[in-house]
Amino acid sequence: MKKTYLLTPGPTQIPESISSLFARPIIHHRTPAFQTLFEDVRAGLKYLYQTKQDVLLLACTGTGAMDAAVSNIFKKGDKVLTLNAGKFGERWTKIARAYGLVAVELKVEAGDSIEPKQVEDLLRANPDAKAVLFQASETSTGVKLPTQEICKLARAANALSVCDAITACGVFDLPMDEWGIDVLITGSQKALMLPPGLSMIALSDRAWAMNETSDLPHFYFDLAKERKSLPKNQTAWTPAISLIQGLQEALRMIREEGLHNVFKRHELLAKATRNAVTALGLEILAKKPSTAVTAVKVPASIKDGKQLPKIMRDKYGVTIVGGQDELEGKIIRLSHFGYCDKFDVITGISALELALNELGYKVEFGKGVGAALKTFSEG
Ligand SMILES: Cc1ncc(COP(=O)(O)O)c(C=O)c1O
Repeated sequence: MKKTYLLTPGPTQIPESISSLFARPIIHHRTPAFQTLFEDVRAGLKYLYQTKQDVLLLACTGTGAMDAAVSNIFKKGDKVLTLNAGKFGERWTKIARAYGLVAVELKVEAGDSIEPKQVEDLLRANPDAKAVLFQASETSTGVKLPTQEICKLARAANALSVCDAITACGVFDLPMDEWGIDVLITGSQKALMLPPGLSMIALSDRAWAMNETSDLPHFYFDLAKERKSLPKNQTAWTPAISLIQGLQEALRMIREEGLHNVFKRHELLAKATRNAVTALGLEILAKKPSTAVTAVKVPASIKDGKQLPKIMRDKYGVTIVGGQDELEGKIIRLSHFGYCDKFDVITGISALELALNELGYKVEFGKGVGAALKTFSEG
């Protein structure tokens, strides 16, 4: 018998109070029952986003909402600035170029964040830029970007701020209205503790104004059409009904804990993870780490870095992820957000200690776990 544990940055673990809902008979979406459900979910999403704007639900994963943001806001040939601190920043560039936009990309070394000064210079060099597209948390490197400063700089330059908060929304504070975030995107399989298949997007008044003049092709992802259905508590197409039922419970749980307590929990789990891996003599990749995920460099003495997550999963039942592309085999990523608590961190670090030892890395058993426990006792 082997128990399994999911410590990946999406999908994240699903609480039983949510997964048990999926066993119920499906309801139809053009009914009062769905309308009541949707009304409650819409209010919960405004709380999560800290906004007065409508938060639209799309039946797709996060990338679909990123695609929708581009195809519903810009005009062919528009210039946008993309901040590439990793794989998902690069995705913004690819989406923008797929729609015929001119994407000017700022790429930094893996593990580096983007400094406000770099954004300021980029905006100054490109005064015709219509928007800055970026991640609040770059999942591929575990880096946090300075969202508040980026939004402020973009606004001062009369450009929109388009924020992929897929592993940030519900993880750390991102008050949409207060910080003037023009487009805020997240997805179901992250802090919302749901299976994949649902994404959320909200637009500021400035972004909605640009939507009116946008001329890029789209059909399914028509944000104005989605917005029009909302007063009837309906979606334009068949919604992901079961996921929306799950979302109601997820939002109820977040409200019950309190959004800012959720952020504090994530901060503590991230701190304990960072202290644990550092105590084991390992190095963290991100200079400015996100509280969603910790990317850790595989020690040089381990020649095949892909073995580390493999042993953790196959031998000890703990699924984490490695690095992507040029970081493959070079890092591991331990996630600590969503339905995640202190003992998930302890489990992850325990499996890491065992796997490191198995690969010949010198481990003093309990050193990482001890550092995490110490962090919790002080936290
Ligand atoms: C920051 C970020 N952006 C975008 C995506 C893509 O989302 P999806 O895989 O749900 O399409 C992910 C997925 O991990 C992500 O972490």
